[in-house]
Amino acid sequence: MNALSMKRYAPRSLYGRAALILLLPVVSLQIVVSVVFIQRLFEDVTEQMSSNVAYELRYLRNTVEAAPSLDAARRTLAPLARDFEIGTALPDPAPISGTDRQIYDLSGRLVVPTLVKELDGVRGVDLASDDDVVEMTVDTRHGPLRFRFDRDRVSAQNPHQFLVIMILTALLMTVVAYLFLKNQLRPIKRLADAALAFGKGRSVPYTPRGAREVRNAGAAFLDMRARIERQIEQRTMMLSGISHDLRTPLTRLRLELEMLDEAEAEPMRRDLDEMQRMLDAFLDFAREGVMGEREDTNPAQLVEDVVEKARRAGGTVDFGRVMQANDLVSLNPLAVGRALENLVGNALRHGSRARVSLERSGRALVFSVEDDGPGIPVEARAEAMRAFTRLDNARNQNRGAGVGLGLAIAQDVARQHGGILRLGSSDDLGGLRADLVIAL
Ligand SMILES: Nc1ncnc2c1ncn2[C@@H]1O[C@H](COP(=O)(O)OP(=O)(O)OP(=O)(O)O)[C@@H](O)[C@H]1O
Ligand SMILES: [Mg+2]
Repeated sequence: MNALSMKRYAPRSLYGRAALILLLPVVSLQIVVSVVFIQRLFEDVTEQMSSNVAYELRYLRNTVEAAPSLDAARRTLAPLARDFEIGTALPDPAPISGTDRQIYDLSGRLVVPTLVKELDGVRGVDLASDDDVVEMTVDTRHGPLRFRFDRDRVSAQNPHQFLVIMILTALLMTVVAYLFLKNQLRPIKRLADAALAFGKGRSVPYTPRGAREVRNAGAAFLDMRARIERQIEQRTMMLSGISHDLRTPLTRLRLELEMLDEAEAEPMRRDLDEMQRMLDAFLDFAREGVMGEREDTNPAQLVEDVVEKARRAGGTVDFGRVMQANDLVSLNPLAVGRALENLVGNALRHGSRARVSLERSGRALVFSVEDDGPGIPVEARAEAMRAFTRLDNARNQNRGAGVGLGLAIAQDVARQHGGILRLGSSDDLGGLRADLVIAL
């Protein structure tokens, strides 16, 4: 197995990996210990015990061989067999042939060959009929001779007890380790959850806990979160401060313009209007971060509202494929609606018609806005999404220039929902296709 395929089979979660790291040595150690132990106990001990019994059996058989007649043989055999505590029958009424043992009888695998090796004329050994006794038939001059003795004379009793205890202990320790591990990993998971939530624009309560390293990472995360939140707040305050303060002089200027004569004032008023519009856009952008809350929303309804609104404003907008959502989705309807309005606004500014669709793909919701305008070349797409950038495009100047915030806002909204804004080209209409992807 090469490194790559190892990687494929390795568990993905930290928990799985930790469990593997923990279990692998334990299991390997157990396997090694069991193998060595089985080797020694099962093989060596069994072999020694079996040969000892075999010597006694050999003695008994030799006695029978030495006897002149069957009767004499039986007579000498009886007291000896009694002393050795070995049951005998001569002649054996039902001689055993071949060997018979249970599959799980590991030591039996060694008992039979040892007996056969040490004893002449073995016809058959039966370990299977009764777990606690060994029965065997050997050939003698006076016919088949049956031996019957306790099983624990040839192999260690209940050798599996050791294995059972070992496995049980291992299982118990694994459970204990599992619980410990779970406790150790929980703080990491909580940190990951907090970071994930913050990435989606939510600030969930979090206190660093757990091992020192995890606590340090947690504290670093909290610092970082506080700093980012502070920066966002400052940005918001600064932008709204500027926009707000500029409004007063703007209003004053507008009043002063009223005093001038119409022809002279007109171009200035248009400039003022433009400034006003830009200021409004800045204010909106600044407020965006704090606008609205997540709530259970029907996304199809949201799409319909946006299209409805654009139509009322005189735009040509139609529906593409709109998934009829049965489930409500948790999103910020104000923010998403605003993002979609921006995209539709762009589409109508740069093209003559727009199409809005809604689809679900895997664990994401995709709102798409397409148009029949010139689109944005691949290399300019990242640039277009940056705040305050307008692509130099003489074609659409006559329809009024924007501030360059529409796509930036849409991207912000997508990110707040754990998604992205994706720009592409529309297959159907030929212009831009903007996908607002939202994680479910
Ligand atoms: N549908 C589109 N087709 C072609 N170009 C587009 C389209 N949408 C945006 N662009 C280009 O991307 C630039 C940035 O778009 P964005 O929406 O961020 O700003 P804007 O439309 O200029 O201003 P705002 O939306 O803030 O009024 C635009 O200036 C335009 O050149
Ligand atoms: Mg725009």
